[in-house]
Amino acid sequence: MARVKVLCLLSILVQVIKGDKPCAARDVGGESVVCVCNASYCDTITRVSPGEGEYVMYTSSRAGSRFKKSFGKFKTTNKVTCPVTFVVEPGTKHQTIKGFGAAITDSAAINWMSLSPKLREKFIDTYFSDKGIEYTMLRVPIGGTDFSTHKYAYNELPKNDIFLSNFSLSQEDFKYKIPMIKQALAASRVPLDVVATLWAPPSWMVETSNYTTCGRLQLKYYSTLADYHLKFLEHYERAGIRIWAITTTNEPANGFLPLKRFNCLAWTPHHMGLWIVGHLGPKIRGSKFRQVKILGIDDQRHTIPLWFIATMEEHPALLYYLDGFAIHDYSNLFAPPEQLTLITRPHPEKFILSTEFCEGATPGQEPKVDLGSWTRLQSYISNILTDLNFDTVGWLDWNICLDEQGGPAWNGNFVDSPVIVAPLKGEFYKQPMFYAMGHVSKFIPRGSRRIDVRTVKCNTTAAPESFSFVQQKEVIQSAAFVTPYETVVVVLHNKGPATTVGVQLCSQHASINIEAESIVTVEFNKMT
Ligand SMILES: *[C@@H]1O[C@H](CO)[C@@H](O)[C@H](O)[C@H]1NC(C)=O
Ligand SMILES: *[C@@H]1O[C@H](CO)[C@@H](O)[C@H](O)[C@H]1NC(C)=O
Ligand SMILES: *[C@@H]1O[C@H](CO)[C@@H](O)[C@H](O)[C@H]1NC(C)=O
Ligand SMILES: *[C@@H]1O[C@H](CO)[C@@H](O)[C@H](O)[C@H]1NC(C)=O
Repeated sequence: MARVKVLCLLSILVQVIKGDKPCAARDVGGESVVCVCNASYCDTITRVSPGEGEYVMYTSSRAGSRFKKSFGKFKTTNKVTCPVTFVVEPGTKHQTIKGFGAAITDSAAINWMSLSPKLREKFIDTYFSDKGIEYTMLRVPIGGTDFSTHKYAYNELPKNDIFLSNFSLSQEDFKYKIPMIKQALAASRVPLDVVATLWAPPSWMVETSNYTTCGRLQLKYYSTLADYHLKFLEHYERAGIRIWAITTTNEPANGFLPLKRFNCLAWTPHHMGLWIVGHLGPKIRGSKFRQVKILGIDDQRHTIPLWFIATMEEHPALLYYLDGFAIHDYSNLFAPPEQLTLITRPHPEKFILSTEFCEGATPGQEPKVDLGSWTRLQSYISNILTDLNFDTVGWLDWNICLDEQGGPAWNGNFVDSPVIVAPLKGEFYKQPMFYAMGHVSKFIPRGSRRIDVRTVKCNTTAAPESFSFVQQKEVIQSAAFVTPYETVVVVLHNKGPATTVGVQLCSQHASINIEAESIVTVEFNKMT
């Protein structure tokens, strides 16, 4: 017994010296394990700068590796590794990355606050600190969403109050979201960019709304809703939180779809254009918050051709006010990523940010929380890498954590999350999806540029296909970046069996072994 303890202590000591605490893996009967964190233990990951001619590799696999570190050397050789070699081209420069993160909804913040103070700290560190996955972006709702415990907006009373004389933040802001955001700000090495989004305004502003129908804004309140956004910016600033960007309403096309109803505001392209150009845009730009970025759409990719193009054609002045566009990833099966180029090709000066995705949201997708799911990790990483390869500047997950049921959610709209909290057990569980986020968020810091990565395949007879479909069908998906550290980061998602692949930069070549069904992040110096 004593010997076991000594051995155990020794192995912990070795880990401490190496700098990382390994995943406390638990088999929960899922496709893969979850990593359990409690008040005294949570796995950590530190980034190691690659030495000259060396690469550092981090692996997470279905078999149970989580950010497993390994090291290797480049060789000067003309040999390529079969079946496939990834050739990076640091001279090609695409979009500049702004960041990765998740939403601090009411439900997420309530879940976080339900943990003990020690466990709350572990949670913040694992998401925001340099021992965790270093998120640099957050999304925060303006008022309630379906991920609240009840339906509300600010200034519900008095009705028809065009001066918003009774505007105040909610208990959810003061007791949960603001304390959580502040703790995240304190743990992060860089300032966090916070994106704020309205789901539904006070019901008196809307034609028919009681949160179970999705109404449209009454014309007489167009100006008031713009003021409502300004009030939110002021109140958050007063609470010590600077908002980096606002979007122009969450999923405005939902009002026209037969969906389960929750906090929403329906906009036609015609009316949304009128509101932004006539009210929101001029009011924000004419205020002390003129630097706050305004992001349009904030809806599914499939809305781009019909909805976005229509809005732009009718209201070209929108381009003057919008800094970029926010896109959700729920309908990607029905909308190829090429649709993103409908924005970036005519408007290269605007950026696209992916602002929402989660698993378990499709009607009938059960269980809502699928602990240990590797399939859901694959969906995350596949969406992330595809979006990045189509010029998006960052990727935001939906609820940063949920409870074991996938809530709370006042309308029963439960979904999954990369972190599930179990406050009564004094634990939270980091699902495979958490590591999918971390394989990009930690190693592709703000300011990184995407570069080309070409695949050289041995012995292939397949006809060439269009880029995106090749990418999505590939057994190994890839994306590459140069970072502000002057390193190259390649992220590979292997859907197939264990294999050896090549990574090549100029005449430098490395053969790396990658595990079956894994995500691998490889980092090396730009000038090896
Ligand atoms: C916390 O987790 C560690 C690592 O799994 C474990 O050794 C320890 O017993 C746990 N502590 C409690 C109080 O459960
Ligand atoms: C102001 O709002 C609060 C709820 O935040 C409500 O209780 C109160 O009645 C409102 N005041 C007026 C004058 O309507
Ligand atoms: C919400 O409003 C709709 C349309 O006016 C109505 O049919 C429905 O009964 C209302 N629901 C509630 C809960 O008030
Ligand atoms: C090329 O593919 C064929 C058919 O799959 C296989 O028989 C052959 O061994 C492969 N050659 C190499 C060099 O991998």
